[in-house]
Amino acid sequence: MYGLFGMRSLRAISTKNHRFVIECLGTECVVAEAKPSSLTLFSMAQTTPNHTLTVSGWAAHDPSGKITPYTFKRRENGVNDVTIKILYCGICHTDLHHVKNDWGITMYPVVPGHEIVGVISKVGSEVKGFSEGDRVGVGCLAATCLECEQCKNDQENYCDNVQFTYNGVFWDGSITYGGYSQILVADYRYVVHIPAKLAMDAAAPLLCAGVTVFSPMKEHDLVSTPGKRIGVVGLGGLGHIAVKFGKAFGHHVTVISTSPSKESEAKERLGADDFIVSSNPKQLQAARRTLDFILDTVSAQHSLLPILELLKINGTLFIVGAPDKPFQLPAFPLIFGKRSVKGGIIGGIKETQEMLELCGKHNITSDIELITPDSINDAFDRLAKNDVRYRFVIDIAAASSNF
Ligand SMILES: NC(=O)c1ccc[n+]([C@@H]2O[C@H](COP(=O)([O-])OP(=O)(O)OC[C@H]3O[C@@H](n4cnc5c(N)ncnc54)[C@H](OP(=O)(O)O)[C@@H]3O)[C@@H](O)[C@H]2O)c1
Ligand SMILES: [Zn+2]
Ligand SMILES: [Zn+2]
Repeated sequence: MYGLFGMRSLRAISTKNHRFVIECLGTECVVAEAKPSSLTLFSMAQTTPNHTLTVSGWAAHDPSGKITPYTFKRRENGVNDVTIKILYCGICHTDLHHVKNDWGITMYPVVPGHEIVGVISKVGSEVKGFSEGDRVGVGCLAATCLECEQCKNDQENYCDNVQFTYNGVFWDGSITYGGYSQILVADYRYVVHIPAKLAMDAAAPLLCAGVTVFSPMKEHDLVSTPGKRIGVVGLGGLGHIAVKFGKAFGHHVTVISTSPSKESEAKERLGADDFIVSSNPKQLQAARRTLDFILDTVSAQHSLLPILELLKINGTLFIVGAPDKPFQLPAFPLIFGKRSVKGGIIGGIKETQEMLELCGKHNITSDIELITPDSINDAFDRLAKNDVRYRFVIDIAAASSNF
């Protein structure tokens, strides 16, 4: 189990009264009470005496995924930290995977949320480039080693020691809590500026969904070289932003979807050129070998065979969706088409900022349904049923009298 989705290998967690280790082997991750040898191995893991800031948020406590108000502690603002008053937080499908423990790695209680925007209220003494009052965003990254090849090459999202915004284990041994909360303390090196032109609520999903689809496009030269034919599988939170980027960057965009009802809005509102219903063999056959690049954003298990057949010779299928069950990878469409399949996780901080600037230039934000915190459970139910156009965003400031 990789990256965004939790710990790789073996890591330690300390809570007030317990010490646990998380072991990930293959796709299985388990949380177990630490054995004495593990305790020695993880003597680095600290308790969290500096966690004195009381924060109100919303957490799931078990795999039912039901969210309830939850008060917890965050660290004090350190020298490299900024404290952020959270205004809005997007609901990514990854949040749903986590609250339901789809990937078997959730540490409850989990405070989800990694599409965070807000305003800085405090700045540490070593912080560069940020001031009180700045409009900022935080995505999936909470910390990285800052020293490895990936960190030095602005690909810190691939750092082997990456710590995520929630359901991660921070350097001090504390579990990270995400943006379904009123205040965040974040290391400034993982914070980005939100361009003045962009509405804060509709910009929030750019912090994860936006950069996750931008990064593969940039890597495949699709940001600065127009005129390619690209496909987007799954018209959800990630997919609809991919369509907007594809059009803004000058490409012919085909949506491949399970939902015929999305065709007109895909074309009329989002600007897609073509729409293929993935259960329609005639449409699939007609589009064989037409696409240079396909981005697969689907959250559930599905067949790759018909999708691979849509690629031209040498085309690439780039997977960012993270179903809980493994894909079957058929050999024939690969060997007869010299095609590649690869995947990626979010993007680095530098490219997140670059993406936001481009969004400012092209006036791109997410299509959102704004909800209040007391509707998070309804939103999760609707997201699970593929009933959202196209991202729920929580108006954190609209918290009810629960707090
Ligand atoms: N790699 C990364 O860094 C990264 C970052 C963020 C999210 N993710 C993952 O990406 C996936 C999508 O996230 P999201 O927030 O965009 O989710 P979303 O809003 O729920 O969109 C997923 C879309 O997939 C399609 N879909 C759903 N169930 C399907 C099924 N059974 N078969 C085929 N298609 C189906 C639907 O589109 P149609 O109605 O058009 O078929 C749906 O709108 C999740 O697994 C999430 O964890 C990965
Ligand atoms: Zn996400
Ligand atoms: Zn690193």
